[in-house]
Amino acid sequence: MKKIPILIDCDPGHDDAIALVLAAACPELDIRCVTTTAGNQTLEKTTYNARRILTLIGRTDIPVAKGRETPLLAKPMQAASVHGDSGLDGPPLPEPGQELSPLSSVDLMAKTIRECGEPVTLVATGPLTNVAALFLAHPELKERITRISLMGGGLAHGNWTPAAEFNILVDPEAAEIVYTSGVPIVMAGLDVTEKALLYAEDFARIRAVGNPVAQTVADWLDFFYVFHKNKGYRGATVHDPVAVTALVRPEMLTMQPVHVDIETCGDYCRGATIADWFHTAGRPENVTAITGIDREAFVDLIVEAVGRYGKEARA
Ligand code: RIB
Ligand code: CA
Repeated sequence: MKKIPILIDCDPGHDDAIALVLAAACPELDIRCVTTTAGNQTLEKTTYNARRILTLIGRTDIPVAKGRETPLLAKPMQAASVHGDSGLDGPPLPEPGQELSPLSSVDLMAKTIRECGEPVTLVATGPLTNVAALFLAHPELKERITRISLMGGGLAHGNWTPAAEFNILVDPEAAEIVYTSGVPIVMAGLDVTEKALLYAEDFARIRAVGNPVAQTVADWLDFFYVFHKNKGYRGATVHDPVAVTALVRPEMLTMQPVHVDIETCGDYCRGATIADWFHTAGRPENVTAITGIDREAFVDLIVEAVGRYGKEARA
């Protein structure tokens, strides 16, 4: 099977962690590197978490580099209320089994793209600071990127403010650079990720797979659901794995092209992702927006993915 070479930029984060577990289990994908951004927690914490997740799943071969400490211009913000003080509260995890790359995220991404014999796909599941920094530092590499499959935004509403979704709101200037870069974007916004709900019975299905990775994913979901339950959700909105699903199971998604702008100003709408559904400005579509998902098939995909991990001892 011809594999798709991917680079993952993330801010783990429980749903980022499940996205990494899913991506590493998909035979269609070849993870060339992982880079970390501040977002759900500080850069130190998201980087430590990324290294521990890759150690848990036996992928210490994948190079990890940390990104920028802060957004391009905005003041840093975290989501400890969702992901806890560590950024990945819940089950114990192994200490990192790999050294952190000495390169910055931008340098590791650039090196990986240059060394890949074919165009790569970027998967971004956190704020877009590192992706924007890559495009600013190495605009010539944009032509070596097939597309960016990202979790971010919401064409109907936000989740961190009424207008803005967290990943975009953390660094709207970075998002504007990415959305105007000319690199095609597959956007898993809240429009679809709030339909990517996993319920308690789905957590139980995952846990019943029985290997240490499955048990850890179920424990992550138990913790991640607490925030959602308190908000009145019946399940956990597992956002980030949808950006991976778009690469391996597009048939389970509903998508449509649209032009999307990023609002970087305003007291109430900074960080909003604005869809021009009626082509009012006549600009080309820069985004394939995902608006629907076969939820049951999504759950089956995650169950199938965790089933691919061995029985070796958990942390
Ligand atoms: O708004 C949801 C997004 O913000 C997800 O990527 C989650 O991990 C947080 O980064
Ligand atoms: Ca994330």
